[in-house]
Amino acid sequence: MSANPHPDIERVLIDADSIQQRVAELAAEIDRDYADKPRLLLVGVLKGAFIFLSDLCRALTVPHAVDFMAVSSYGMTATSGAVRIVLDLRMPIEGMHVLLVEDIVDSGHTLHYLQQVLASRGPASLRTCALSRKQRPEAMSVPVDYLGFTIPDVWVVGYGLDYADTHRTLPYIGVLKPEVYR
Ligand code: PRP
Repeated sequence: MSANPHPDIERVLIDADSIQQRVAELAAEIDRDYADKPRLLLVGVLKGAFIFLSDLCRALTVPHAVDFMAVSSYGMTATSGAVRIVLDLRMPIEGMHVLLVEDIVDSGHTLHYLQQVLASRGPASLRTCALSRKQRPEAMSVPVDYLGFTIPDVWVVGYGLDYADTHRTLPYIGVLKPEVYR
């Protein structure tokens, strides 16, 4: 538990030790499921997933490669569902076992879009690992195969999650004080 959270943080939602423990559990699950599957490719979704992905991939023992995608939403949020690729994979993924790695599933639009795009490229399999998913009844019901935490529908930052590109490198996930974003 972080004794002195950042002054913009109302409360720590998931402390650093709990995140690291959950990352280790997810890695163990993935190791088990992909033990007999060569050509595993982890696809991190920038920017948010880079910290989670870096811890997750180093906790894995199964051989794997890492690549990245970045998407952009029209407007400030992905809630409109209009998503486009701004950085794509370097290589074709046909025949590969692809694991999408996200930091958070909020409305579900980003993940839905990426799953459709990658599935159309003929991977041997496509699964998703997300560190967190917001509890939003109205969100799209996109499949998440490996989920770290279900979290309330509040503004969270840290461990890759940002507010206006800040607070990503906090070691915990914290709830942002409303006065910071109002
Ligand atoms: C965040 C997050 C997901 C997406 C989830 O990215 O990393 O990719 O939003 O939202 P959704 O489920 O409503 O589509 P963001 O657009 O904030 O970009 P960033 O990762 O660069 O911060």
